Amino acid sequence: MCLFKETLWKNALMDMLICTFCLSDIHKLRGISPEWQRNFPSVVSGGPLYLFGNLSVTSLSSQEMESKNLPIYHQKSKLVQAVRENSFLIVSGETGSGKTTQLPQYLYEAGFCKDGNIGITQPRRVAAITVAQRVAQEMQCSLGKEVGYQVRFDDFTSPSTVVKYMTDGCLLREVLADPGLSAYGVIILDEVHERSLNTDILLGLLKKVFSNPSTATKGRSFPLKVVVMSATLETDKLSVFFNDCPVFTIPGRVFPVTCKFGTAIGPKDLESTGYVKEVVKVALNVHTTEMAGDILVFLTGQVEIERACDLLFEKAECIDYRYDVYDQTVEGLLILPLYGSMPTDQQKQIFQPPPPGIRKCVVATNIAATSLTINGIKYIVDSGFVKQLNHNSRVGLDVLEVVPISKSEARQRAGRAGRTSAGKCFRIYTAEFWEKCMPEYTVPEIQRTSLTAVILTLKCLGIHDVIRFPYLACPEERFILEALKQLYQFDAIDRRGRVTKLGELMVEFPLHPGLTRALLKAASLGCQDLLLPVAAMLSVENIYIRPGEPEKQKEADTRHKALAAKTGSMNDFALLLTVFQSCKSSDRPSAWCKENWIHWRALKSAFSVETQLREILLRLQQKRDFPVETFDGNKSELFRQCLCTGYFTNVARRSVGKVFCTMDGHGSMVHIHPSSSLFDQEAELNWVIFHDVMVTSRVYIRTVCPIRYEWVKDLLPKLHEVDVYELSSVARQEVTDDEMKKWETKEAAKRQQGSIHKLEKRNNEATVSDARARYLERKKQREQTSSG
Ligand SMILES: Nc1ncnc2c1ncn2[C@@H]1O[C@H](COP(=O)(O)OP(=O)(O)O)[C@@H](O)[C@H]1O
Ligand SMILES: [Mg+2]
Repeated sequence: MCLFKETLWKNALMDMLICTFCLSDIHKLRGISPEWQRNFPSVVSGGPLYLFGNLSVTSLSSQEMESKNLPIYHQKSKLVQAVRENSFLIVSGETGSGKTTQLPQYLYEAGFCKDGNIGITQPRRVAAITVAQRVAQEMQCSLGKEVGYQVRFDDFTSPSTVVKYMTDGCLLREVLADPGLSAYGVIILDEVHERSLNTDILLGLLKKVFSNPSTATKGRSFPLKVVVMSATLETDKLSVFFNDCPVFTIPGRVFPVTCKFGTAIGPKDLESTGYVKEVVKVALNVHTTEMAGDILVFLTGQVEIERACDLLFEKAECIDYRYDVYDQTVEGLLILPLYGSMPTDQQKQIFQPPPPGIRKCVVATNIAATSLTINGIKYIVDSGFVKQLNHNSRVGLDVLEVVPISKSEARQRAGRAGRTSAGKCFRIYTAEFWEKCMPEYTVPEIQRTSLTAVILTLKCLGIHDVIRFPYLACPEERFILEALKQLYQFDAIDRRGRVTKLGELMVEFPLHPGLTRALLKAASLGCQDLLLPVAAMLSVENIYIRPGEPEKQKEADTRHKALAAKTGSMNDFALLLTVFQSCKSSDRPSAWCKENWIHWRALKSAFSVETQLREILLRLQQKRDFPVETFDGNKSELFRQCLCTGYFTNVARRSVGKVFCTMDGHGSMVHIHPSSSLFDQEAELNWVIFHDVMVTSRVYIRTVCPIRYEWVKDLLPKLHEVDVYELSSVARQEVTDDEMKKWETKEAAKRQQGSIHKLEKRNNEATVSDARARYLERKKQREQTSSG
């Protein structure tokens, strides 16, 4: 019997392509494009077919053809002229029109690299890497030579690099070291419509610094050029922001996309994870009932995407292509995941056209909405959700949450189906969900996440008034005050809001300020070897493999427990250290990882991150005033005490049963996450610190470590030392000596009343609501005074 079924699914974990189909039709695969044949060399007969190797890249001449067909190509000379004539220019155009890949090349050819490089920022690291690879190919140079990229902990540039793609975070760091950006002739801020926190800050900085002509021309034959690129949104607002600078619009044709609402996800399903199964169902339905054309599925994150790909693969295998598909030219399905932490050689494959007769189905995060354009997409399946970093006022921390996308985001997603011909978008949610649960626009990141790191950066750049900084969208004042408070708590700024010596050291580390604080404490005590690996391990993706399948899960749990036992103490931070050290000292580290159910790729990144952090630290330790301290406590407690210096803002105390109560004034009720080695050991715990929280129906704390109250006793009052009054002066202007004296007197009085005692009481509901009422009263009074 000959069933025509081919399902290809790229499994990210196995690093290989698996293809199952009826092998009596193996010739079918052999008969397809020579390009694919070359790349699928190993053919096994029967059963699943494992195919190794990368898909080839499209030949250069066809790439050249492709780039000449892009809408931007017809504007080439006008665009170069516009950049030449203006210091600030906004370029807008439909996603896929060629802005990111072509404009830097045009400027390079036109000689804009004479005085400096062309730097292009991307909000997402995957985009920076993928696009740099593509442009290097188009410019026929090897990556890292003329064209390179730099993302956090991964620098792929060389002295000969002139076109540099980088994340917006990397450029922000460069501004710190060189506020005049003297290495650059052109700065292109790309994907500005995404409104990432760092891009928004860069916009303000460039406006502030480069509106002064003398800074902009310093050391250059022409003033620094700033090009701001965006999909079609908000260009007027951007132009006004840059003193009415011109907007260059790339005309492009878009085809109509018909959108259809579903029935599965309604307002009641906000918290449900049913969207994974539903997108699979809808995607399969498209595959069997619609004409040829590729599918793009929008999901939330790696785990959901892997699961959806598994399900799709399983289901697609049962399709009998003789009877089950509407379009008889469709003879197979190629399933490809796409998310941020995927290995880059796999990411390349999403751009390859599928072989004839095969339909491609890419299951992606929001990265495919604007950052990366995949050609040939005719159908969109939209889950309606996105993973977003939000400040959660319930727990007072930033939390990665799954939330409904905005309507404008949904339109952008749908638009991906209409690039080359008319398309269709299948939304799995109802029209009621659209109306009731989806906001009109996505709130810019600056208005929803912690500002601690960027406020420190601004302060280090000498920008004292962080309230009146030219923000494209002002963050709420309370977020700015919250950031200042945290910086004060970590000793990065003093009470007057000036950056301390420690703050100047802290800003050098691309880490969360608390983690940096702990690392610097350890370094001052000479035990950085304990903290560096932990900081590295907390900076990479998840390291523990959780297979999901019950049998395998049990095996993985046993291995992880054995590692915890080897660690000696119940402490997730120390466990990270054990994993790092054991793997590193092993003769065959990758085999060690496999045996212990640890992601080898994550560990490899951690090794590299650790080296880089160590280099930063070594450089800072050369400074004469690098702090040196001595430790007179118990040596075995040294590690945990260092952690306390950075994590005393994340302290919780067990209240009843398995419930802990945080001590930061929010008094949130939290539970230890099941992935922690302390899970189920709660009865033996009293005080703990934790790295982060996860919010589902409950608030979970993750990466947990037991501590003693004495270690944080002297630090905890710091959480409540400065009040809103003080902070708002700190945020606006220099604090006068008089004011400073007043605060100190008030502080001394508070101490006398035994505020530490009060602190412990602070966590019940009544005291929290009292405090809130007092604050509101004060605010009212202040408003009355200022309006009066
Ligand atoms: N890595 C890649 N491999 C293959 N094609 C790519 C790659 N990156 C971009 N492209 C193609 O280049 C074209 C232009 O994309 P891009 O410059 O990113 O447009 P824009 O920035 O305007 O959205 C698109 O058709 C896209 O599919
Ligand atoms: Mg782009």
